[in-house]
Formats: sequence, structure tokens, C-alpha cells
Amino acid sequence: MDHATKPSAATLSTSSSRRWVLSRCSLATLFLLSGSLMLIAAGYRPFQPRTAATWDRFSKLQKAIPAAPSAARVSHGAAVTAPAPAPAGDLDYLSHQEEHDEEDAGPPAPAPAAAEEVGGDGECDVFNGEWVEEPVGYPMYDAAECPFLSDQVACRRNGRPDSGYERWRWKPRGCGGRTRLGGAEALEACRDKRVVFVGDSLNRNMWESLACILYAALPDRSRKRIVDEAGSEYRVFRAMDYNCSVEFLWSPFLVSLETKDDRTKALKLDQLPAMLQRTLGADVLVFNTGHWWTHTGKLRAWDHLERDGKMVEMAGEEAFNRALRTWARWVDRNIDPSRTRVFFRSVSPEHKSVNWCYNQTSPISSGTVAPWFPKSLITIVERDIKSMRTPVTYLNITHLSELRIDAHPSVYTITREGKPLSTEQRQQPLTYADCSHWCLPGLPDTWNVLLLDSLIRPPSDVQLLG
Ligand SMILES: *[C@@H]1O[C@H](CO)[C@@H](O)[C@H](O)[C@H]1NC(C)=O
Ligand SMILES: *[C@@H]1O[C@H](CO)[C@@H](O)[C@H](O)[C@H]1NC(C)=O
Ligand SMILES: *[C@@H]1O[C@H](CO)[C@@H](O)[C@H](O)[C@H]1NC(C)=O
Repeated sequence: MDHATKPSAATLSTSSSRRWVLSRCSLATLFLLSGSLMLIAAGYRPFQPRTAATWDRFSKLQKAIPAAPSAARVSHGAAVTAPAPAPAGDLDYLSHQEEHDEEDAGPPAPAPAAAEEVGGDGECDVFNGEWVEEPVGYPMYDAAECPFLSDQVACRRNGRPDSGYERWRWKPRGCGGRTRLGGAEALEACRDKRVVFVGDSLNRNMWESLACILYAALPDRSRKRIVDEAGSEYRVFRAMDYNCSVEFLWSPFLVSLETKDDRTKALKLDQLPAMLQRTLGADVLVFNTGHWWTHTGKLRAWDHLERDGKMVEMAGEEAFNRALRTWARWVDRNIDPSRTRVFFRSVSPEHKSVNWCYNQTSPISSGTVAPWFPKSLITIVERDIKSMRTPVTYLNITHLSELRIDAHPSVYTITREGKPLSTEQRQQPLTYADCSHWCLPGLPDTWNVLLLDSLIRPPSDVQLLG
């Protein structure tokens, strides 16, 4: 890595213009963990229209919830007494079906018009651009080719009749032919590398995508290894001939969520889970957190917040900020930037309410997308990353993903029990549609292309923002 990407600690700590590495890449991952079964219970609640109030509530004081009702929301799947089945999408972030408004499913937006390819010598920001239909090279793999693709996001297998969503290519503006990357290049980019994703189900979505891209490109597919233990919060895909491994660690808050003796759950804002030590020595780390912080009421995964071993109350934003800073300090102390490239993937948008994903078959072409996530959280992430000593590449995929209203599983997913939705269930999209995760093949493949594109750029091509 060159100087530009490794400003000295002295420069940073004294300089008012702190630097932030902003790559042109992005990435996320996700997969099914039975560890997250624990949270299914917390996840389900019958449909209620979401209003802005959900976000407002987030910023209010986060009070401890009395312990009593927690048994129903905690660890034991069998003890769950949810009033109705919830889609398995809830495994991870719990709330996807809770909040669309019936009148929201508008007609599909017209496909974006193909614009002229702009030359590569202008300002290239790979996160800015448009979606174009691409008959060649997409999808990057067939769902049927990827034996470990989870049912939750294998939309075709679950009966999704259209496949246009698999064939859009993200075309950054002013970047020439950049980001045209196939499986063979992906394998080369991963050669002799250990790539680790840490975060929630959306980073698992991204992990699955990268594993599928790499697997499908392997000249000898028997030369792979997959560790995917039921009940484990850890997954690995290894391409042996390339000495490349891609891992996923489930940690939706990044900080520790601890179950106490009395079965209450404490979110420890100043502690990281011990398993994070497993990431040490990785060549590439990709973090994310976000959605779990916004769950309120019965969906909230914690009963109380803790600092210094003491129960504390504070607004949601403050808790989020403290947790991120705990994470940032850990990275600054433990990660050697000359050895490890650190990424943070920006928030993955949901399509609910005004922009509901149900029945959508084309991306949104205009820039007018209703906000769906508290802007304050995005601001906190960006600010905290900027103030780190370690250069962190921000995979700013929020906007390009917002346009992909067509790319969610919707009703082509599975139930909480792991079965494809029945015809009757598919006719109840308000209850069952998953507008949070992403079909594979599909959008997360693009996140990975952007991640890999950033990895193979010479460091001088990494953009620094002051
Ligand atoms: C395999 O990759 C690891 C990084 O994941 C690296 O440290 C090691 O040197 C590589 N092994 C060989 C034989 O190149
Ligand atoms: C969704 O599409 C189906 C089939 O084209 C149609 O019958 C249904 O009315 C649509 N629903 C909405 C809410 O647009
Ligand atoms: C991320 O992308 C959005 C949309 O393109 C942009 O408005 C925002 O400034 C970007 N964030 C950063 C930190 O570059």
C-alpha cells in the first residue's frame, strides 16, 4: 500500500482534516445461521403499517424492557408463540413483513434508458451511475450451479417467474469499462487471500453471493471446501486451488449481545464479541451493522443497554454511535492496515411502504426514492469511520441498491420453517413478502464486483476525501 492509503497516526491525530479512504467499491454478505433462530421469535409480529413514527421512536430514549416477556423473544425456538408463521427472512432482521401499506405497490417503473458510456478519464465514482440491461456476462452464475445457495434468497428455485432482475449491470458514470469483472477475475483477486465478512444477514447475503461467484468459476469444482455447521455463526467457503477463503461471522450489532442468567439480553456498548478475534490476520475485512438498531418494541433484540457492566439508558442514535466507536477503537488497535484492508458496507435499503418491492420487475430509473432508513445512522457511520486511524474503505452501495426495487425475494422466499411459501401464502404479500434481503443471483453480486474492483486497483487509485 502506498502512503496515500496509510496516513501516519501522527498526521491523523493532529490534523483537523482527517482522512477517509473512499474506495469505489462495495460489498455485503449474508447467510442462514441457526444462531439467528434465536431471534426469530423476536422477529415476528403481525403486519402493521409502518409510519415515520418507527424511525422517530428510534431516536427516543431506549428504556430497559421488563424481563418478564422476554422468554417469548429469546433463545428457544420451541417456546415461540408467534401468532402466525413469519417468513424465514425474519431470521435476520426480523421485521421485513411488518410494514407495507397496501396501496403502495405501484406499477413497475420504466427501465432506465441506456446512456452513453462516458470515458474513463473524468471523475470516476463507482457508486454513482445507472443500471443497464446486460445480455452478456449476467447473471454471473446460475442458481442451480451454486449448491450452497440458501433457500431464503434462491428466488428462481422458489418459483419467481421473471428473471430480468438477474441481468442488470451497474454502470458507474465516468469510469469507462471499469467494474466489468467476471468469475475468473474474481478468483484471481481472491488468490492467497482470506476475506472475512462480519455483520448481519445482509452481509451473509453478500457472502453467499461471493461464494457462488467464486464456486461457479472454479475450473475444478471438487476442489472446494465449505464449512457451514448448523447452529454455528460462522461460515467458510474455500477454493483450494486458489488458496482463497471467504468467511462470514454473524454479529448484527458488532458489539456483544449477552444473555444473562435471568434470560434478559444486554447489549454491551463497550464490548465486542470474543469471536471477532477470528478475523485477525485476514487480508480483507468487510463489516456492516444497521438494521438491528432500528428495531423497536417487541422486535428489539435487547432488553437493556450496558456500559461498564451497568445498565444505562440513552437515545438510539447515541447507543449506535457508542457501539460503532467501540468497534472503531478495536479496529484501530488490532488491525494492521499494511496487512489487512478494511471495508465498511453502507446500509442496504429495504423497499417497503411507498416503494414496496412486491410485484416489481424493473429498477427505479429516477433518483426519487423515498427514504427508508434513518439518515442519522448513516451520518454517524460516515463520521465515525472518518475519525478512525485505520483507513476504511466505505462501500457506499445504499443509493445504487435503492434503485433495485425489483431485486428482493418478495414472495419467492421461504417460511420461518424453511419451506417455500405456498400459493396461499404468496397471495398474502403483506404478511410474507421479504423486501429486505436480495435474490441471488442478483444485486449483492454487484456489491461484490465493486468490492473486488477496489481490491485489484493499485492503492494510488484509492480516493481520499479530506
Ligand atoms: C495462502 O493464503 C494465506 C492468506 O490467506 C497466505 O498467508 C499464505 O501465504 C498463502 N499460502 C500460500 C502457499 O501461498
Ligand atoms: C401483482 O401481480 C399479479 C399478477 O400479475 C396481479 O394479479 C396482482 O393484482 C398484482 N398485485 C398488486 C398489488 O399489484
Ligand atoms: C454515498 O452515496 C450517496 C449517493 O450517491 C452520496 O450522496 C453520499 O454523499 C455518499 N457518501 C459518501 C460518504 O461519499
